[in-house]
Amino acid sequence: MLDPFDMVLFGGVGDLALRKLLPALYRAFREGSLTRGCRILPVCRRREDVDRYLETAQRALQAYLREGEYRDSSWRGFSELLCPVALDIAVPDTRWEYLVDILGTDPGRVRIFYLAIPPGVFGLCCENLHRKGLISEKARVVVEKPLGYNAQTSCEINGKLASYFPEDHIFRIDHYLGKETVQNLLALRFCNVLFEHLWDAKAIDHIQISISETVGLEGRAGFYDETGALRDMVQNHLLQLLCLIAMESPNTMSAKNIRAEKIKVLEALRPLRAAEVDKNVVRGQYVAGEIDGQPVPGYLQELEHSASATETFVAIQAHIDSWRWAGVPFFLRTGKRMEKRCAEIVVQFKKVSHHVYDESAGKVIPNRLVIRLQPEESIKLILMAKKMDSLATKLQQAELNLNLSDTYDSFRSDAYKRLMLDVAANNPALFIHCDEVAAAWAWVDPIIEHWRDTSNQPKPYTAGSWGPTVAGELLARSGRHWFNAK
Ligand code: BG6
Repeated sequence: MLDPFDMVLFGGVGDLALRKLLPALYRAFREGSLTRGCRILPVCRRREDVDRYLETAQRALQAYLREGEYRDSSWRGFSELLCPVALDIAVPDTRWEYLVDILGTDPGRVRIFYLAIPPGVFGLCCENLHRKGLISEKARVVVEKPLGYNAQTSCEINGKLASYFPEDHIFRIDHYLGKETVQNLLALRFCNVLFEHLWDAKAIDHIQISISETVGLEGRAGFYDETGALRDMVQNHLLQLLCLIAMESPNTMSAKNIRAEKIKVLEALRPLRAAEVDKNVVRGQYVAGEIDGQPVPGYLQELEHSASATETFVAIQAHIDSWRWAGVPFFLRTGKRMEKRCAEIVVQFKKVSHHVYDESAGKVIPNRLVIRLQPEESIKLILMAKKMDSLATKLQQAELNLNLSDTYDSFRSDAYKRLMLDVAANNPALFIHCDEVAAAWAWVDPIIEHWRDTSNQPKPYTAGSWGPTVAGELLARSGRHWFNAK
């Protein structure tokens, strides 16, 4: 059981707080992880937002919780933990004294400052927390991606945080790391002898990591158009998945050891510069199309602009220059308004070195391991087997299918809940170290710089498709193809 804590939620009426954080905290409360003495202090700039906070929070829970999760009785208990506070983080006026009073002076009580606010005001917020003496020994700060716009801005943000909080009190969230199946990647890799000896260039032909979404801008046009898919998804979620798939076994499961192994992967990523970018990276932008039979507008229409060179899709061929992965391409892909919502990792094994079946038996197709992270969680191993009912020997593909959604209650799994409870428990293993952020930007920045220097324009793709056709050529030129989720 966790010790009682106070969580001050800056950006209390923002999209992140209402859509993700309150539902996650409510789930934690319902399962009994939040003890009676815990307090959640959403910070709102306007007094009227504070006055109607309970109403706003209740509506958000009813809207964003999954069917059947909201209960009036649980809401009554949960709402007692909410103490909204009126405060303008930019103004160090007397309203801060109220926060100082509520938080009190107990040095042993855990205090979490969750900055669900734009990174541009992190510095100011921390400065005011410091001035008011609120950064106690047990104070922790939580920040969200995107941490900056490039290596330089992210370094500035990390620098500001570091002037007020020691690194081990800074929790940088990448919510993909809170997903159960993402954590399962390490168990799958390091607890099964089956994979241990096969996880390298000798046995693996290539690896694909795809996160496809059907949603478009979701009311975040301003943010997204400034950001684009490479910064929004690749710099963080996709590279984190790549690290977990490619890293060496850590000496222990401590945060320090896991992060050290991830950093080695990021540092071994072969840099993509100039002509290498044109050859290995495809960027796209969706135009109007259909998803699930419904017409959807193009990016520019959603944006209400006549022009934008922001990518909503990116596909990359990457290489990790290490002993284990020499010569194995990693294909990364993500996009909005694609045919299907799916996050999947495909490990394509090599052909058997020799086989004795003649052509009439059919083709011997190399094995494939498909790890699906969402919407449902499953691990599938695709093998070759003999067709059961044929007299003549015929070969066919057969699947070993572990459907994790059937074996554990995914209803209760929530990445944000897990991560917030980890902050409260002071467990940083699933959070990003500042050196990881820097290494990820160091790889991504030259790609963006090349696009900027060459005025690169994204290739159009129809909403509801799997991206621009040239993305297929990234693999086709080496005789490979994407495995699109079914
Ligand atoms: C966020 C991105 O980090 O991840 C969004 O900013 C994206 O653009 C979201 O839609 C995807 O998360 P999930 O968990 O729905 O796959």
